[in-house]
Amino acid sequence: MLKRVPGTKDILPDEVSRWQKIEETARSVFSCYNYREIRPPLIEQAALFNRSLGESTEVIQKQMFIIKKDEDELALRPEATASIVRAYIENNLDKTEGLVKYYYLGPMFRYERPQKGRLRQFHHLGCEVIGADEPASDVEVIELADHILKTLKITGYTIKLNSLGCQNDKAAFTQGLRTLLKNRESQLCADCQVRLNQNVLRILDCKNDACRAVIATIPTDHSYLCADCTAHFASVRRGLDLLSVSYTVSPHLVRGLDYYTRTVFEISHSGLGAQDALGAGGRYDTLVKDLGGPEVGAIGFAFGMERLLLVYDQTQDAQPNSLVYIISMNDAAQEWGMRLQMQLRKSGIPCDSNYQNKSLKGAMRHAAKLGARFVLLLGEDEVKKQVITVKDMNVGKQQELTEDMLAATLKTS
Ligand code: HAM
Repeated sequence: MLKRVPGTKDILPDEVSRWQKIEETARSVFSCYNYREIRPPLIEQAALFNRSLGESTEVIQKQMFIIKKDEDELALRPEATASIVRAYIENNLDKTEGLVKYYYLGPMFRYERPQKGRLRQFHHLGCEVIGADEPASDVEVIELADHILKTLKITGYTIKLNSLGCQNDKAAFTQGLRTLLKNRESQLCADCQVRLNQNVLRILDCKNDACRAVIATIPTDHSYLCADCTAHFASVRRGLDLLSVSYTVSPHLVRGLDYYTRTVFEISHSGLGAQDALGAGGRYDTLVKDLGGPEVGAIGFAFGMERLLLVYDQTQDAQPNSLVYIISMNDAAQEWGMRLQMQLRKSGIPCDSNYQNKSLKGAMRHAAKLGARFVLLLGEDEVKKQVITVKDMNVGKQQELTEDMLAATLKTS
């Protein structure tokens, strides 16, 4: 039998209701902050990601799903920020709208080694603010992420915050770090010895014990930040304090994508195990220009939906089931049942029935399995008397109702 691709999931209906709860909550929070939804395509020119995320990043080096067709080299998107910046430029949104605030939900693809919380097809719930240079935008975006988690009643997470500085600061920091670590190259793991030449900042992220011991000795004073970036970072922290958003400054926090400048943040959760990032984001002040657009600042974040689901308490979304289940015991009752079902559905009452002509016992069992709140029994007697036997499954009581009393009674019970 053919099986699903490793690292992908079938999201079955029982689980879909939890997805919808998170999606609905996020949508309503985003709209309170005046963010509008954007839906870029799932495939893009591979070059878009190569140029945006950085040639030496792990995503580009190892994780891209590439599709080659004739002259085209296309990629399944590994993330949405680059696509949204492309859409912003291609649709002239800088000229028509200036500052934009967008949110998005949808699948992303990375060819990773699957494990708990790490998939090859996963979903992002994220947002991007483009055309925003002020620290107030950083504060808004981080507080927004915090607000979504609070609304979902997720606890036990930490917001880690850092500033990488502008391009110049980042280059100076990278150079300083390389010089410092060159002397200790032999103490680093094999991967970090490669990173030393290709992507030195990622060494700060290495989980290897020997590397961690070296990293612990690296100064954490943000002395590489210029005056503007120092002031920006201070304003972001002040704003978060003002809004009572808890965070920890993590001077070694770097992100796996090259486009970040200045503010970066990661939201980790102790309940997630090795892949503990619930979400992450930051500023990318040079990306819009690098992709051919105007010189404007931007910031955003993305949560991993599957990871949110791992820490989301499912007991909260238990909603009372209002399903009505119709059991028709003969042909005449069947026709009445079909008409009744249509009317109830049209008046907004969820309704299902026993199409399969089961025995009363079998049909009652099916109703119970579906968690029906009410069962409507239509048998010979009911057809004759033109009444419907309504059984309230919560209390186990039943009563006879005429058809014109039915909808109102079901709605008010
Ligand atoms: P990212 O850190 O690569 O950032 O991904 C964001 C989140 O997606 C992660 O924190 C994690 O929760 C989830 N995630 C990443 N890879 C996987 C995977 N293989 N399986 C399951 N979940 C995963 C970005 O992609 C940026 N575009 C975020 C951003 C938006 N920065 C600015 N704007």
